[in-house]
Amino acid sequence: MAARHFLTLNDMSTTELEDLVDHGTRLRNEWRLGTVRDSLKNRVLAMIFEKSSTRTRVSFEAGMAQLGGSAMFLSPRDTQLGRGEPIEDSAIVISRMVDAVMIRTFAHETVETFARASQAPVINALTDDFHPCQLLADMQTFREHRGSIRGATVAWIGDGNNMCHSYINAASQFGFHLNIATPEGYDPDPELMKKHGDRISLVRNPADAARNANLLVTDVWASMGQEDEQKAREKAFHDYQINPALMTLADKDALFMHCLPAHRGEEISADMIEHPASVIWDEAENRLHAQKALLEFLILNRLD
Ligand code: CP
Ligand code: NVA
Repeated sequence: MAARHFLTLNDMSTTELEDLVDHGTRLRNEWRLGTVRDSLKNRVLAMIFEKSSTRTRVSFEAGMAQLGGSAMFLSPRDTQLGRGEPIEDSAIVISRMVDAVMIRTFAHETVETFARASQAPVINALTDDFHPCQLLADMQTFREHRGSIRGATVAWIGDGNNMCHSYINAASQFGFHLNIATPEGYDPDPELMKKHGDRISLVRNPADAARNANLLVTDVWASMGQEDEQKAREKAFHDYQINPALMTLADKDALFMHCLPAHRGEEISADMIEHPASVIWDEAENRLHAQKALLEFLILNRLD
């Protein structure tokens, strides 16, 4: 049987995604009670990181350990990946030895190429284009705090980047409307917007996106790999900040999320982290639980 991969949210059906998010909550509750679970005993996850990470590395590595398995950190600096061995060759070899492969890299095409040659499930742990694992955690967090997100309005304020793209996919898969406020020149991918046109609205003014929204989300102005653009982006995104004043326009029960790391004083004001609407620490912790559910789904093909 060909391996299932998780390169974008579209690799799963809505039912699978909803079941996965529910399973994440179940795993969180069990874990908090101290229940021992060894569903992935003797299983190994290879983790290839071509970009930095705190949450993703810790959550995948801890998640595998907590389920009785182990995780192996691979960086291009000390593997043949960094010396030009073809991606396909690396995929064949690595996937013959481990049970799943997690990749954080630049070009989305790299994870697609790897997945095509891999006999083990491949997980996209962030590319320049998508960050689907973060969306599992975000959707789980919303559900735990507010119930179903179906029919809700979400406001994305800031860059039309990998996180924004995954929110666009999530809008279709989880059935919410996404208001996107980006400055001109920083829009999300036009093809993706066209494909999900019925689920999104693109506006220029953050207030227009935030009005009556049930969830406000943002991300850094300059993503990994865009460090040289920091100054230009600070100018372009100057008015695209989530702060308590913007929150007052949202629904009174609105939540605030950020995938982190956050730059206080840029995309959020310093007081947003502790704002009553903020659920960012639950959101960060849920990376662990949602991905444990994902690992069980991909490796064991079950969610119970
Ligand atoms: N949100 C997220 O993916 O964080 P890291 O870059 O620390 O993994
Ligand atoms: N958009 C950010 C997300 C970090 C988790 C980046 O790609 O750097």
